Amino acid sequence: TAGTRLPPLAQVPPQVHQLDDYAALAEPRMAPDAWAHVNGVAGAGITAQANRAAYARWWVLPRVLQPLADASTAVTLLGQRLAHPFVLAPVAYQRLAHPQGELASAEAAMALGGGCVVSTQASETLEDVARAARRGLGWPESPGAQTVHGGEAASNQPGMPWFQIYFQRELADTLDLVRRAEHAGYTALVVTVDAPLKLRRGFVLPPDVDAANLRQHTRMQDPVPSLADSPLFSHPLLAAAPGWADVAWLRAHTTLPIYLKGILTAHDARLALEQGIDGLIVSNHGGRVQDGLPPTLAMLPAVVQAVRDWAQAQGTRCPPVLVDGGIRSGTDAFKAICLGASAVLIGRPYIHALATAGALGVAHAIHLLRAELELCMATAGCAQLAQAGPHLLMPA
Ligand code: FNR
Repeated sequence: TAGTRLPPLAQVPPQVHQLDDYAALAEPRMAPDAWAHVNGVAGAGITAQANRAAYARWWVLPRVLQPLADASTAVTLLGQRLAHPFVLAPVAYQRLAHPQGELASAEAAMALGGGCVVSTQASETLEDVARAARRGLGWPESPGAQTVHGGEAASNQPGMPWFQIYFQRELADTLDLVRRAEHAGYTALVVTVDAPLKLRRGFVLPPDVDAANLRQHTRMQDPVPSLADSPLFSHPLLAAAPGWADVAWLRAHTTLPIYLKGILTAHDARLALEQGIDGLIVSNHGGRVQDGLPPTLAMLPAVVQAVRDWAQAQGTRCPPVLVDGGIRSGTDAFKAICLGASAVLIGRPYIHALATAGALGVAHAIHLLRAELELCMATAGCAQLAQAGPHLLMPA
């Protein structure tokens, strides 16, 4: 029962040497059903497992004695400069892991100079998370001169988190979320498109955790279908599922850069770019939505090629392609970047760090990833991530 759970630690435990070490520390600090929810996978978990296994299919080739004097892990994404390529993936209901939930993770991500995507289904309001992010950046809590708005982030500044959008049944509700995110200073939208049919899996939120952003909109909290609703295709929510026309609609209604999250194929990458989408996130939702999808790292090169071809044909700069799913170390991130990723997102592991030691745990997890990446870059003789490429990898 919850009463036997351990409280979060006030400092980072010395026995954590790599990201995976946080899992064992987090489990006794979370309610069993919340723990199961966070680590949940679709079906038999073949896709979730394959996401991780895909990283073992590549070896990093060393290049010794290369100059590293001005080495840096920095990346620039649509004009937003990050100190390193680690972005916290949107994860719903983070108060399940720690009383400070998204406030802690956003503050930590910003303090470490990285990226952060806040979920539509966050358990803190997007306005409160924005204030926490400002604290992390060392900015005043209310928007002012520092606000780096959307496309203007071209000044290569660090910047505020991005806001993840799930299309709501009514476009007016989606637009309301977009306007709130713009007003609060979020610098990009991440539209998640890989969960057309979300199923209820029996997990019930505890009374003190809710979808804080959707409180004003009771119609947004309609019950989602469960496997018991048969046939699923006759469920009324399906008729309201978003399509490419909705993506085009959103593009026409905001000047914020838009990433589509949940793209796995060159075909869908091209469609997204044709709608004016600014960046892509190659993702299968961590293998949580549909089992049997291919691992993201295996799909990354074809998506990157499609994006490069498109940019060349248009004579434009190459849109960023990010990837997530199964990334557990700086070395994993290096492999993804060698295969064309501009940056990577981390999901479950930072929730384990959050449950263990709050903002400090998340900051430490990001620090570990960055240190591992630095070591890997040094080994590969790679002073800048722009120099990373398939020439530094060998298939296993
Ligand atoms: C998620 N993910 C997710 N994605 C999204 O776009 N909106 C969301 O609200 C959520 N919620 C969510 C909850 C939990 C508990 C998890 C674990 C994941 C998916 C997430 O952004 C990311 O794609 C995966 O977690 C990446 O895989 P790894 O790093 O967890 O293997």
